[in-house]
Amino acid sequence: MDNYTISVPNETHYEAIGNFLFEDYLQRERCCVTSGLSAEMAEKGLDMTNNTSGEIISALQEGLTLITVDNKDPGTIVGVAINVKAKDDTDLEISNFPRSRQAIMKFVKHLKEGHDITKECSGQGLYLWMLGVKQIHCGKGFARRLTEKSIELAQQHNMSFISSVASSAETVHLFENMGFETKSEMKFQEFIMDDQMPGFPDATPLDKARFTVKRL
Ligand SMILES: CC(C)(COP(=O)(O)OP(=O)(O)OC[C@H]1O[C@@H](n2cnc3c(N)ncnc32)[C@H](O)[C@@H]1OP(=O)(O)O)[C@@H](O)C(=O)NCCC(=O)NCCS
Repeated sequence: MDNYTISVPNETHYEAIGNFLFEDYLQRERCCVTSGLSAEMAEKGLDMTNNTSGEIISALQEGLTLITVDNKDPGTIVGVAINVKAKDDTDLEISNFPRSRQAIMKFVKHLKEGHDITKECSGQGLYLWMLGVKQIHCGKGFARRLTEKSIELAQQHNMSFISSVASSAETVHLFENMGFETKSEMKFQEFIMDDQMPGFPDATPLDKARFTVKRL
């Protein structure tokens, strides 16, 4: 771990973060894979001007994201915790997004429904939106370290909580182990869209996600 640095990225890192998310994270994260978003993105290629890229750049500009880099190769991203201020997304306009992305957004909204964490914890919080570690570096504690550092960052900003949606067995385990409380949980296969078609057509019975919160 001594050879790796965790820091808040600046604009010079944005392209490397975009490449990491596109080439690694999006191809492995289960909501993206099972909704069909990963395949669509792979077909289209990385476009830094579309809605999704714009959202990621806005998130990075909040200055709450953390990246891990290898000191010997600082231009390469080892892992990311894309963090944003937790906000109420009830008014979010989603019709401009592809169906696969809409499925993910509606699913997350459904998981958060009925949980006003800002009110419950009496203050602002940090939302760990995307936690990813390059596949070749997995299983070495990088995600745990990024989560610990995100908690510290939230505390430095006097935030009252950190929340996330855990969609992998590793993050379900990690967050539980680090004292996050499960607010809701749902299997991907149970999530049906307004047209009665599944939101995650390629989901397996093992795919589930948890809305999880840690008070600070
Ligand atoms: C999920 C991900 C971030 C984990 O990164 P990582 O650096 O390998 O994670 P860590 O090594 O820090 O920790 C993994 C933990 O999960 C545990 N784990 C591994 N496989 C597991 C499994 N199948 N079930 C439960 N726990 C598991 C490990 O034992 C470890 O816990 P420990 O620290 O208590 O021993 C990484 O696999 C990834 O980027 N996946 C693709 C993107 C994604 O799905 N992100 C999560 C979205 S919420």
